[in-house]
Amino acid sequence: MTRFLGVRSCATPGAPAGADSSPVFKVRTPEFPANGPSWADSIASELNALEAASLLRKCRVVDSPQQPEVALTGRRLLNFSSNDYLGLAADPLLREAAKAAIDRFGVGAGASRLVCGTMAPHRELEDRLATFKKSEAALTFSSGYAAALGTLSALARSEDVIILDKLCHASLIDGARLSGATIRVFPHNDLGKLESHLRWARKQFPSGRVLVVTESVFSMDGDLSPLEDIVDLKDRHGAFLLLDEAHAVGVRGRNGRGLAFERGLSERIDLHMGTLSKALGGSGGYVCGRRRSIEFLLNKARSFIYSTAPGPAAAATSSAALDFLLSEDGEERRQKLAANLAQFAEDCSAFSAAPPSAIIPVILGTSQAALSASEALLDAGFLIPAIRFPTVAKNAARLRVTVSAIHESHQIRELCAVLNRLLAP
Ligand SMILES: Cc1ncc(COP(=O)(O)O)c(C=O)c1O
Repeated sequence: MTRFLGVRSCATPGAPAGADSSPVFKVRTPEFPANGPSWADSIASELNALEAASLLRKCRVVDSPQQPEVALTGRRLLNFSSNDYLGLAADPLLREAAKAAIDRFGVGAGASRLVCGTMAPHRELEDRLATFKKSEAALTFSSGYAAALGTLSALARSEDVIILDKLCHASLIDGARLSGATIRVFPHNDLGKLESHLRWARKQFPSGRVLVVTESVFSMDGDLSPLEDIVDLKDRHGAFLLLDEAHAVGVRGRNGRGLAFERGLSERIDLHMGTLSKALGGSGGYVCGRRRSIEFLLNKARSFIYSTAPGPAAAATSSAALDFLLSEDGEERRQKLAANLAQFAEDCSAFSAAPPSAIIPVILGTSQAALSASEALLDAGFLIPAIRFPTVAKNAARLRVTVSAIHESHQIRELCAVLNRLLAP
């Protein structure tokens, strides 16, 4: 006999017994106050508040490939806001890899990875990623956001502690919150406070897992974490370290392997996390580490388990991007990026030295100031949207300028001329 456990049905509550053999569940009516605001009014008032605070967001439609020059609402604009640091997003090499994968495998993965969605390009990409990061194994996700969410919520439980840098990306914060672990935040790169959190965690949760989370290049400030000290601290206190190299891979270290490699610390990082959607030019996220850790995530990370696998072309594109990073052309592209950053520092009077990454924050304070500067740049032909709360602190709205390896010298000069005028005291 089949037993139904918690099956939902559309049967009318209260229908006579025997009229329908399906189990019947009562639907709870929402407990809105009889004279409360309507759903539409309630949402409209939040949107109005966002607009009044200069915090309303809108999508702009780009009608061209992602390149230094983009087409936007009928205008050609110079784009200095993309994370495509090496200019791979529209590169012929990656386009060809995607086309070949589509011809061979089609476009969809058909199911989640654990059902029948693991296709040869997914496995090839994970093998390449593990080799690239000199790790035992790798697991890919549909985005960096999904990688962070799935990994942190799987690794930590309510009896554990996650300690994050204050400037960690939203995906890391959301993953930590979802885990149900106790969360502690240390001021940006403040090693003293990190150490006191570690001591506290070890004392309060003697048998819990303690996980430190930070980024190597910070997404909105472009600065670096003091990685050697963080690794020493987490080792001394028996903690685990997840390092998000989203903005370092492709840009820092030999072959663009990231900051942990550049500093000779890669073997001491427990989990290397990153995204395939920035310097690698495609889309997806990944985690690399010990074989057992990856096996654990494959069994526990819900954003991996309960999501259809990315299409095979996305995986093949990322494999081609990794091959490119390892090639001489990849090294040249990275040198071109470094030269472009040096030129930016020379041409822009607000900066005296080449920035440590391709992310250059121009902090303006209020959201309105950032929006006005962004509008002025748009009028001058540059696409650099304002970055506002809650992405950054309320008083730290900014222009986040990003420079790519394929910007041309004259394009950087033109931008700096406008920035010099705009930022003049
Ligand atoms: C530090 C950091 N981690 C993770 C992510 C998420 O990656 P993705 O865009 O691939 O979802 C981002 C993206 O902005 C990021 O900046």
